Amino acid sequence: MTSQQIRQKFLEFFEKRGHAIVPSSSLLPDDKSVLLTTAGMQQFKPHFIGQADPVHDFGSRNTASIQKCFRTSDIDEVGDESHLTFFEMLGNFSFGGYFKKEAIEYAREFIVKELGLKIDYVSVFEGDSEVPADIESERIWKSLGVHDVRKFGREDNFWGPTGNEGPCGPTTEIYINGVEVWNLVFNEYYCLPDKSLKKLERPGVDTGMGLERLAAAAQGMPTIFETDLFAPIKDALKVLSPGKDLGEREIRHVRIIADHIKGAIFLISDGVVPSNVEAGYVLRRVLRKLIRYAKLLELPGDWFTVIFTEVAEIYGAAYPKLENYRNEILTAIKNEEEKFAKALEKGTKEFEKLAEKAKAAPRDPEHLEISGADAFALFETYGFPLELTGEMAAEKGIAVDEESFRREFKKHQEISRAGTEKKFGGHGLSVEAGELRAATPEELLKVTRLHTATHLLHQALREILGSHVKQMGSDITPERLRFDFAHPQKMTDEEKKRVEDLVNEKIKEDLPVLMEEMNFEEAIKQGALAFFKEKYPERVKVYSAGNFSKEVCGGPHVSRTGEIGKFRIAKEESSSAGVRRIKAMVETIV
Ligand code: ALA
Repeated sequence: MTSQQIRQKFLEFFEKRGHAIVPSSSLLPDDKSVLLTTAGMQQFKPHFIGQADPVHDFGSRNTASIQKCFRTSDIDEVGDESHLTFFEMLGNFSFGGYFKKEAIEYAREFIVKELGLKIDYVSVFEGDSEVPADIESERIWKSLGVHDVRKFGREDNFWGPTGNEGPCGPTTEIYINGVEVWNLVFNEYYCLPDKSLKKLERPGVDTGMGLERLAAAAQGMPTIFETDLFAPIKDALKVLSPGKDLGEREIRHVRIIADHIKGAIFLISDGVVPSNVEAGYVLRRVLRKLIRYAKLLELPGDWFTVIFTEVAEIYGAAYPKLENYRNEILTAIKNEEEKFAKALEKGTKEFEKLAEKAKAAPRDPEHLEISGADAFALFETYGFPLELTGEMAAEKGIAVDEESFRREFKKHQEISRAGTEKKFGGHGLSVEAGELRAATPEELLKVTRLHTATHLLHQALREILGSHVKQMGSDITPERLRFDFAHPQKMTDEEKKRVEDLVNEKIKEDLPVLMEEMNFEEAIKQGALAFFKEKYPERVKVYSAGNFSKEVCGGPHVSRTGEIGKFRIAKEESSSAGVRRIKAMVETIV
């Protein structure tokens, strides 16, 4: 059974049982309290807590989905037989529809009857001082003929919340061939930021089953890497490194590359750009690790083009979008490689020296350590993410003082903040550059991305609504842009979607953003847009994004539209008579 057949079987099974099929959400979640999408339930958080109505949104109290997920929590385990960063989660959900009995019956029926697999054993929550033992699930399993019911505590059989707070509850888990395959969560509680639990008014069901692990079982493979979701990548990597004997270490490296390249491809296709913060940093870590392992395996320069083709083929049926973004994805990887490959070589030499130093003069011979200041120097000079240094050190049995690395990092941020203020003649806590103002250099980067997004939005509105659209005002904070423009009526949902899509298309095209100085008259003659109420000096700066947008503007802007991240219109409303107002954000990244 191919993984695509498993996907289809899963969705059909639950569709037949009254579930609405909901597409995967982006790896960049709407929920700002989490960095990335790590579970299928995330997009349904509002439905679990009664903030959104499932019947209104999906036509049913029950849904099923196949969700793209990315988890950094298991990143150090990747390379063994069952852990991944990127994976797909098959899930069925109920928001006050059914509960334990049906959830367990469905799961058993799907595994045993639909897929013909054997359940090794299951586990249920054993109970503690706060949450009672899940006797009901145990009874249901036994009534279905599953008698090996093991009991575990909070660590293993209690799930959630994602982020700071949210729905959570006891779980029952299904094991096949000794590996946990399916997690059924009974969301009976809401976990508050102080970790206390409040009973939810309407309990819900949230299940998650890793497609890769399930495929290993269904395809009778010893590990996930032999399934059709990985084998073609693994085989291609072997062909690309013909001289290499694949020992245990190399097999681990091949597995890491196979996992990380998928993660990188899917993150980029959802609009993440490598950077030093948030999701962008996760991507950078993954890419830099890939680049290092590719070197260790002596892969040829264009290895990722070959592997991309394999990934796009494996996922073509489920995610046709990958192939559409082929150029953008390959360019993003290539750019990061160009940035890092040279530094990697020099940095590795430097790292070797630091490792020698750690061995030569240990403060504690039982605990060899690279200092935080040294690890930070590697980061600053050669772009080595802390985790990369940590891994390289671990390979030699050396630790890295992470805490002092973080202190160095913070100190450095403060120094660079002071530097920026001086440079821009800042006032108190504010950083100013051109038309923008922010509290920190990081915020300045955010508002700069929103600023370029504002230009794209302006042009997109003119293309979709007509050239009567004129800028009437603009305000940018690190959280959002606000754009007022002349337009006589409310925008329809379709218009909003088309504008949003067009802006995202121009971001995906990664257009260069260029500045030219010229006379104001010349700028207008060339078709540059100007904020019509404002008075301009004779010489002006004109910013253009490819051939798409051209505006008279003081800047600053990002250097390529790809740096903006994913653009999303949050709101369209009236500002004053004949003037509409859009609030929009760009998701994650610097
Ligand atoms: N939300 C549960 C999990 O991710 C199903 O394991």
